[in-house]
Amino acid sequence: MTAQEVTTDPDLAASRERIAAHLVGRERELELALAAVAAGRDLVLEGPPGTSKTTMLGAIAAEWGIPLLFVEGNADLTPAKLVGHHNPARVLREDYSADNFVPGPLVEAMQSGGFLYIEEFNRAPEDTLNALLTAMADRAVTVPRVGRIEALPTFRVIASMNPYDNVGTTRLSTSVHDRLNRLAVGYQDAPAEERIVELRSGATGPLAERLVRDAVAVTRATREHPDVRQGSSVRGAIDLTLVALRLAELRDVAEPDADAYPSLVLDGMIVALSGRIHVDEAAETTPERVLREIWEDRFLLEPHAAAPG
Ligand SMILES: Nc1ncnc2c1ncn2[C@@H]1O[C@H](COP(=O)(O)OP(=O)(O)O)[C@@H](O)[C@H]1O
Ligand SMILES: [Mg+2]
Repeated sequence: MTAQEVTTDPDLAASRERIAAHLVGRERELELALAAVAAGRDLVLEGPPGTSKTTMLGAIAAEWGIPLLFVEGNADLTPAKLVGHHNPARVLREDYSADNFVPGPLVEAMQSGGFLYIEEFNRAPEDTLNALLTAMADRAVTVPRVGRIEALPTFRVIASMNPYDNVGTTRLSTSVHDRLNRLAVGYQDAPAEERIVELRSGATGPLAERLVRDAVAVTRATREHPDVRQGSSVRGAIDLTLVALRLAELRDVAEPDADAYPSLVLDGMIVALSGRIHVDEAAETTPERVLREIWEDRFLLEPHAAAPG
């Protein structure tokens, strides 16, 4: 058994139950992700934004009592940024030494036995991915003038990527894919998203209850609209609920059946969702127009679907 195969918890099932208590739903995804990291493996989570990737990994890291270090994969993520660099001012005074090396997130994760969480993994440059692959294979990195830095047993690389992302991405080589396990995550169903929005908005009462249902419904509709390339995640529904609640306060709307209620939702949608939906360039429409259509569908064409009770 190599060092990385050590799991931190002898009772994995009990550990799963404690982690699950921090999540709405996601039983299967949690079980699979936990099995992969407990087996000492690195993992790529593939799914659109807002599908519990960070929440799940954060809950596992918290259960293990280890840090979760974030890095954003983009063209600027050079190998030196990932691994670390020598402080240039100190190098001028003292020459290169182990002492003036500033660890990057990879070395930090290795030394602290944490998860290195690389979001938008497929946007990182090829040479950075190669540095990472070597570190994953060796569970160690060699830094010039510092020497070999070994990873603690709980060190893992967790990558995430959005399958709809195709701007500025590198096509990952088969050697990258061959070194990672993969878990695909999709959107949750409406009842689970409603529970997430309830939890994250902390909103209670009849007005809030209706808002949560409407916010989730219209947010989900952005993902189905024919002119939308990528709709909003559950984050949009959380913000829509919070914004509409403040609008209700400003406009003195206290009841969900008030005449002014539908316009709260429309205005909240414009603020919370217009920047979150990506309209198909060929469709010649605007996010605002798409949102108004979705709102009309829910409040004017099929008002019974949205009626309280
Ligand atoms: N299963 C879940 N349980 C509780 N909250 C969740 C869940 N999934 C997502 N959320 C909430 O939704 C938002 C986005 O989730 P996040 O895990 O950051 O998504 P991702 O990393 O996939 O983009 C966060 O505010 C998070 O708290
Ligand atoms: Mg995330």
